[in-house]
Amino acid sequence: MGRDGAWNEGGTGAAPTFFAAPAVPRTAPHGTAEAPLPLIIDSDPGLDDALAIGLALARPELNVLAVTTVGGNADVRHCTENALRLVHAYGRSDIPVAEGAAGPIFGDVVRATEVHGEGGIGRTVLPASPASARPEGAVGLMARLLAESPVPVAIAPVGPLTNIALLLRLHPELAGKIAHLAIMGGSIGEGNTTVSAEFNIYADPESAEIVFRSGIPITMLGLDVTHQALLDLGSAERLRALGTASGRIAAELVEFAIERVRQWYGGDSTATHDAVAIAHLAFPDLVSVASYNVRVDTGSGPARGRTVCEGLPIRMQRYGLAPNAQVGIRIDGVRFEQILLDAFSRLP
Ligand code: BDR
Ligand code: CA
Repeated sequence: MGRDGAWNEGGTGAAPTFFAAPAVPRTAPHGTAEAPLPLIIDSDPGLDDALAIGLALARPELNVLAVTTVGGNADVRHCTENALRLVHAYGRSDIPVAEGAAGPIFGDVVRATEVHGEGGIGRTVLPASPASARPEGAVGLMARLLAESPVPVAIAPVGPLTNIALLLRLHPELAGKIAHLAIMGGSIGEGNTTVSAEFNIYADPESAEIVFRSGIPITMLGLDVTHQALLDLGSAERLRALGTASGRIAAELVEFAIERVRQWYGGDSTATHDAVAIAHLAFPDLVSVASYNVRVDTGSGPARGRTVCEGLPIRMQRYGLAPNAQVGIRIDGVRFEQILLDAFSRLP
């Protein structure tokens, strides 16, 4: 690979089966400790979602306004209960949690319980939270927070994009209040749920297409970059050795994920997908991004849910396509683990 990320420089390297666009300066906002970025996490906890929520709550650069849930990895009722218990375990039961869509706007419900367990967080049992889910629901809560915020708010959708599509359809006037969507989902290359599609997009391709067409600034943190953000059993040991309750929870979740990876895919490490989207908003130099035009295959064939990522300038020009997303292409995996360890040492 060439210095700037372009493949086959000089024509001598092995040709990839896709055009790897070169890195460009990021446009996603990032918070600072002095001016934390207001953030809503839309999630389906979820093993890696649980680590993502912990990371967000630990970082002074981020001001988590709410955690909203969507049916995805598990039934939405489980996801909501998990979100409530997770924020409580992380010492922040004051953070509002609201439940969203149970399933996609169209088509069959898809779950990932074979990876995350029937309840979404493996065998981990967390103490009940004194708080309950907000009656206004995920879309209602997001709409209110966006409307009330004096500044635009970032959203990290790390589950199927159903709630975000519904928000945009029900409250189009609020699109301008969304500073950025840091989406965990999609892939330039191969998928994970099917050879074509990554889980979050496959679970609701129609919603994903609405979101990618919205014109809202997007970073797509897809499998191309999250598969470079791996934790192994050593990482789990290091999380447990932090001595915090949250570190023990994170260790248990990572161990369960590795157990399931071994069973389903082979390998001894797990990609901590969702935490990459959060880390991107807290650390401006962690994830390298490239400009792509991203379309979602909403057909019923074998490519359903595929994110079709076009980055080759000549083809973009020929087909009248413009970049609509920055796509994560590289992350320093060692630093990423350090960031997680630091986060779980800060939490209770
Ligand atoms: C995504 O799918 C879910 O199973 C994970 O939580 C993550 O959001 C990875 O494909
Ligand atoms: Ca998720």
